[in-house]
Amino acid sequence: MKNIEPVAPEVKAGLTRNIQDFWTRRVNAEHIMGKAMTTHARGDDAYFQDLETQRYRSHRHLLPWIAAMTPGKTVLEIGSGVGLDTFTMAQHGLQVIAADLTEVAVKTAQQRFLRHAIPADFLVADACHLPFPDNHFDYVYSFGVLHHVADTEASIREVHRLLKPGGQARIMLYHRHSLNEGVHRLLKVPFEDRDELCPVVRRFTVAEVRGLFGEFSHTEVSIEYVYGEGYGRLFALTPRWLYDGLSRRWGWHLMIAATK
Ligand SMILES: C[S@@+](CC[C@H](N)C(=O)[O-])C[C@H]1O[C@@H](n2cnc3c(N)ncnc32)[C@H](O)[C@@H]1O
Repeated sequence: MKNIEPVAPEVKAGLTRNIQDFWTRRVNAEHIMGKAMTTHARGDDAYFQDLETQRYRSHRHLLPWIAAMTPGKTVLEIGSGVGLDTFTMAQHGLQVIAADLTEVAVKTAQQRFLRHAIPADFLVADACHLPFPDNHFDYVYSFGVLHHVADTEASIREVHRLLKPGGQARIMLYHRHSLNEGVHRLLKVPFEDRDELCPVVRRFTVAEVRGLFGEFSHTEVSIEYVYGEGYGRLFALTPRWLYDGLSRRWGWHLMIAATK
């Protein structure tokens, strides 16, 4: 499913409600392909610890990506989920504002920040209509979200609008020409959930990304994550040099760094 045609407003509204319902039922990071990542109650410290350990063990490219952002700057995170990267960015010294379409994600993330007295602002909002003025943020960060929204092109225009001149977008979108795409198609396994179809899961080529980010002055795209722990022992057994080489060609994550 590509998003290259304009999306009619009534279609967009209905789709956004379905998307919201899906992510409310399936709070991200709690399950991977049907397997629970924690036995602890949602919002407990041990719950976050379990999800965070799994995430950064599996997404090896993520901590260096965040560490390369300049502390002290403002960052809007779009689609923050339960706030795992939000927390990492705040600990790195960034001033974070986190938005998600679902109340459950925002409330869960917020609990942790309040408990640890870490400053950050949270809001429930749609990536395509964010309530901030133009030219406002140093960074806009969004990992694994804008391929799930009703209108990806509109959401990227919104990222551009919200960034200060010279500000940086850090966005991850799914890669069409990837091993994961091939395996899911071959085995007819849905993306995101084993038992339920996610309403929108777009995948893009590098050339399509360059088109989507055409308004930006400079865009760099790297490719990561050929597979993760959802592939069982294969992930742990693949030598790092081979994993990195495969990821650069057939990875699932298009890591986009774009400057306004
Ligand atoms: C795959 S999860 C990623 C969450 C988080 N970024 C992470 O990597 O763990 C997708 C998240 O995007 C949120 N989302 C989906 N559509 C959205 C939209 N239109 N605006 C804001 N958030 C959205 C969902 O509620 C969900 O929390």
